[in-house]
Amino acid sequence: MCHKYPGLGRYEIDTKKRVVKRVFYVNEGLHKASYHGKLNCSDCHEGVDKIPHTDAKKVDCGKSCHVIEPSTGKVFSHKAIVEDLKKSAHGVEGSRSKNKDDLPGCRDCHANKPYQLGFHGQAKSMAFLQVCHQCHEEQAWAERFFRHVTYRASIRRPSAEVVKLCSKCHANPGIMARHKLDVIAGFQDTYHAKAIQYGDVEVANCLNCHAPYALGFSPHRITSKQNKKSPTNADNKRATCSQSGCHVEATKEFATGSKVHISPVKAARLMEEAEESADDARNREIFQAKVLHWIKLFYQILIAAVIGGLGGHRLLDLYATHRDSKKGGR
Ligand code: HEC
Ligand code: HEC
Ligand code: HEC
Ligand code: HEC
Ligand code: HEC
Repeated sequence: MCHKYPGLGRYEIDTKKRVVKRVFYVNEGLHKASYHGKLNCSDCHEGVDKIPHTDAKKVDCGKSCHVIEPSTGKVFSHKAIVEDLKKSAHGVEGSRSKNKDDLPGCRDCHANKPYQLGFHGQAKSMAFLQVCHQCHEEQAWAERFFRHVTYRASIRRPSAEVVKLCSKCHANPGIMARHKLDVIAGFQDTYHAKAIQYGDVEVANCLNCHAPYALGFSPHRITSKQNKKSPTNADNKRATCSQSGCHVEATKEFATGSKVHISPVKAARLMEEAEESADDARNREIFQAKVLHWIKLFYQILIAAVIGGLGGHRLLDLYATHRDSKKGGR
């Protein structure tokens, strides 16, 4: 009744003495269409019985709500995910560095909005629903089960969104330096990234390699490559490349030979850092990056020379034809 007014909100001074705008308006249509549209406000917001809400608590995604999970009959909750995340590379227990400042919480990655209204390839899926109706007469019943499975199982966040999400922190030099990690700057030059850019839904995004469901991972169980079980650990890379029909014939050499994130673009920065680090593997990487850089430069010059020469030749030829015809020649 109150939160439907778009003007509802106020300006405040936060703990860092910055002015922040707080919006208390809730768009009913958007809320109903969101993942949590079926929940009541008080399922998530505790301490809001009094008006004004002086006792309002911060929302805890690990608490139980009134929804019942039908396969076990237990009260539903995200507690298991909260625990998983805590132990992952992104959690207070699982992260490797002492700095716990930039670790993502639920709301850094989830905006509560369905990415693909309906599900992947809506028209085709709805046609497939007709198959269910062949045996299940009751339309609403069949549609409910069909929608549940297809909606949840479809790729909810398109690959480009995944890359955007992870890059928010992993392409940020400041955050990565604080945690002694390389920025993933070279990723956009890889085949995977280009294919994603052009809308390929089959090609691997960050999650397919770092948290493949097929191998028992999830976005909340991402681990460092140093973890023996990690899908990016040297011993598991082959399995990761060949999962769910991707590079089925991948050999160990295939899986360990190619660079996923490093690229010639980074060569300059790596060269600068070379003096500081004497690590063998790193020096090899720097050498490879240098070689790639020179090959790329060679080809750029070659291409410019060939195309430029071709164009120049055409122009000279045109000029000669013009000059000869002016002289009254043939
Ligand atoms: C799935 C859980 C969930 C449901 C359901 C939900 N909210 Fe929220 N809401 C949140 C989260 C998370 C925040 C972010 C602030 C926080 O963490 O406390 C938030 C923030 C808000 C804020 C801004 C508060 C502030 O301090 O800036 C308002 C107002 C609000 N919700 C109102 C509502 C209303 C009204 C409903 C019911 C129509 C509702 N919410 C349903 C999870 C939920
Ligand atoms: C590093 C980013 C990240 C963080 C942090 C994160 N999630 Fe997720 N989560 C994802 C991605 C990506 C998916 C895959 C579905 C999608 O594309 O939205 C997902 C999926 C889910 C799902 C659907 C089930 C599944 O595994 O596919 C639930 C439920 C969920 N997250 C809840 C949470 C909760 C609760 C938290 C906080 C404890 C949280 N997430 C923190 C990125 C994150
Ligand atoms: C060829 C006929 C046929 C088609 C097509 C069919 N079903 Fe069924 N379905 C059945 C029969 C018969 C049962 C009950 C026996 C069983 O469990 O196999 C059933 C059971 C179910 C159940 C389990 C219900 C329960 O309470 O245990 C669900 C859910 C279901 N079907 C959903 C679907 C959906 C969704 C589709 C479309 C993708 C579909 N069915 C297509 C014949 C069919
Ligand atoms: C809000 C910022 C943020 C987001 C979003 C984020 N990460 Fe991270 N990630 C971090 C930080 C910070 C660390 C380092 C944790 C530590 O201190 O050890 C990290 C660590 C990692 C590591 C382990 C690195 C190592 O060797 O310890 C991997 C792998 C990773 N993230 C992948 C991803 C993927 C894939 C996504 C997208 C689903 C993602 N991250 C989204 C901030 C983020
Ligand atoms: C094709 C598979 C693949 C894709 C796609 C991919 N990665 Fe990786 N990533 C790897 C592998 C393999 C490693 C380990 C590097 C090595 O051993 O040389 C790695 C390393 C990392 C690391 C650092 C080290 C660690 O300890 O695990 C981070 C952080 C990371 N990736 C984040 C991302 C982000 C963010 C994206 C998306 C923008 C992404 N990756 C896309 C396969 C992939």
